[in-house]
Amino acid sequence: MQILDGKSCSEQIRQEIADQVSQLKSEGRRPPHLAAILVGNDGASETYVANKVKDCQQVGFESSLIRFDNSVSEEELLTKIAELNADEAVDGFIVQLPLPGHIDEHKVTVSIDPRKDVDGFCPENVGNLCLGLPTFVSATPNGIMELLARYDIETEGKHCVVLGRSNIVGTPMAILMSRNSKPGNSTVTLAHSRTANLKALCAEADILVAAIGKPEFVSADMVKPGAVVIDVGITRLADESRTSGFRLVGDVQFDSVAEKAAWITPVPGGVGPMTRASLLQNTLKAYLRN
Ligand code: GUN
Repeated sequence: MQILDGKSCSEQIRQEIADQVSQLKSEGRRPPHLAAILVGNDGASETYVANKVKDCQQVGFESSLIRFDNSVSEEELLTKIAELNADEAVDGFIVQLPLPGHIDEHKVTVSIDPRKDVDGFCPENVGNLCLGLPTFVSATPNGIMELLARYDIETEGKHCVVLGRSNIVGTPMAILMSRNSKPGNSTVTLAHSRTANLKALCAEADILVAAIGKPEFVSADMVKPGAVVIDVGITRLADESRTSGFRLVGDVQFDSVAEKAAWITPVPGGVGPMTRASLLQNTLKAYLRN
């Protein structure tokens, strides 16, 4: 088994971006600017957004964090989005999800200017992805494709099973892997909670992407010997033997699956850092496009 090391790969990408930003600055140009809107105080969202801001600082981007209370009205949020759409000093922005129940996430997503939608969530960008046109690809699937590319993993003609059909990960991942591209050209099965014979199906996969958000769901008997296993899950499980009181686990039972797989992403240190690097790549792309 070999590790698909997302941590070191993402460091390489961040260095490449930082070098490009230095070059831009030396030419007298302003740096790329990412803004993030965070509503409320959800612990996981706080961490994700703090990391996004930190990543921007590290590569030399400008960043803005715009916070709202949980009680913010949909109208107020849409007004801020309209401001960011019009702000020429902002290249791209994200609205961290999930949002409080009284706000319509779809309405928020469609109000973001597609040219600044570095999350790749708005209908125009998802449509472009389906059509194979230039677009912003959602950060997690984009990061996985980059990882497969940088490790030169053969995907052509392979059977790729994507577990989970979310708009953010599973669905775009299935589209990307089936496209006529490298990586890509796989025969893709998009499996989900209603899929029959799920275990047997997974065991046929040459490439298995686990994105169902169920900790340690994928066991060794679900994995074909020599498969490439991509673990998108990340869950905190209580663990009193750790000083932190928890350990992070993915959607895959790492130790036993690693014995069968040819390649596997660890958790943490696999898909997570690649996702973070992808958002930076998308922001740089937005900057260069605009
Ligand atoms: N919540 C969980 N993942 C994401 C993401 O990639 N982007 C946004 N905006 N919210 C999220």
